Amino acid sequence: MTTAKYLVTGASGQLGTLVIADLLKKTPAANIVALVRRPESAAAFEAKGIEVRFGDYTDPASLEKGFRDIDRLLLISSSEIGQRAVQHQNAISAAKKAGVGFIAYTSILKADTSPLGLAVEHRATEADLAASGIPYAFLRNGWYTENKTGSIDPAIEHGAYIGAAGDGRISSAPRLDYAKAAVAVLTADAPAENVVYELAGDDSFSMAEFAAAIANSAGKPVAYADMSEADYAAALEGAGLPRAFAELLADSDAGTAKGALEDNSRTLSRLIGRPTTPWTETVASAIATRKAA
Ligand SMILES: NC(=O)c1ccc[n+]([C@@H]2O[C@H](COP(=O)([O-])OP(=O)(O)OC[C@H]3O[C@@H](n4cnc5c(N)ncnc54)[C@H](OP(=O)(O)O)[C@@H]3O)[C@@H](O)[C@H]2O)c1
Repeated sequence: MTTAKYLVTGASGQLGTLVIADLLKKTPAANIVALVRRPESAAAFEAKGIEVRFGDYTDPASLEKGFRDIDRLLLISSSEIGQRAVQHQNAISAAKKAGVGFIAYTSILKADTSPLGLAVEHRATEADLAASGIPYAFLRNGWYTENKTGSIDPAIEHGAYIGAAGDGRISSAPRLDYAKAAVAVLTADAPAENVVYELAGDDSFSMAEFAAAIANSAGKPVAYADMSEADYAAALEGAGLPRAFAELLADSDAGTAKGALEDNSRTLSRLIGRPTTPWTETVASAIATRKAA
């Protein structure tokens, strides 16, 4: 067990919550700081004896204050797509001023070569972090399985899971596995410095296989309906998503078709010391939760 002081940004988010829970198994609450941006996010952490600091990626002064006396920082990428390169640069500059000793950053799988539009901001942040001189780890996270289980309801309702991923395979893992990897990197006795981790599930699926698994678990007919990137974007927009976000999701599917989300390195399972959670298990438990509701 190390005596370092850790800070997790985005602590109130879905990944951050899991990271903090796992960090608590590795180090006393007194060594953990949760950075949040909203007052209502504080109570859950304070109830566990975790110090809460307030910081917004758009407010450099709040970050500099928040990062004081921190040894190791997990920079969870912002959810504000389009603003992220600047926001993350604010965090890196603040960490530099505050004297943070190590930053792990949640990037995207194969960020340096990924054709996904989503990778552009991650590439910028990786470059900024490398240039900062702060020892770093790039946690290049693959797809969360939850990205795909989130659309189980409409897939069952319409008997079709739509997309533009073709036969592309997705080596996904649930957020919990990525959270555990982040904690493993952060809490190592001496974290490996300036290292890139390509993190993805041990097993992979095509969207046709994913639809078949939904059908199998739900006992309802569901098939994968592949369409062009433009048609998929239009369908998502028609379902109520803002156009820019619909286009980004369709672009991610087009990248999937090119293999951008497949990875066979098994680095994630090595880091967490167990096989990654099979995607079929995540599908089955999402359907069980749905049936129970
Ligand atoms: N690998 C994948 O499949 C995948 C999928 C989706 C997203 N991601 C990326 O991974 C990150 C973590 O995933 P997640 O599921 O935990 O997302 P999430 O639940 O949306 O959490 C995002 C976190 O970022 C915080 N945040 C957003 N803007 C901020 C700002 N201006 N200043 C300070 N904090 C800010 C949010 O704070 P509040 O709680 O106050 O909103 C929240 O804690 C996402 O933000 C995104 O960059 C990856």
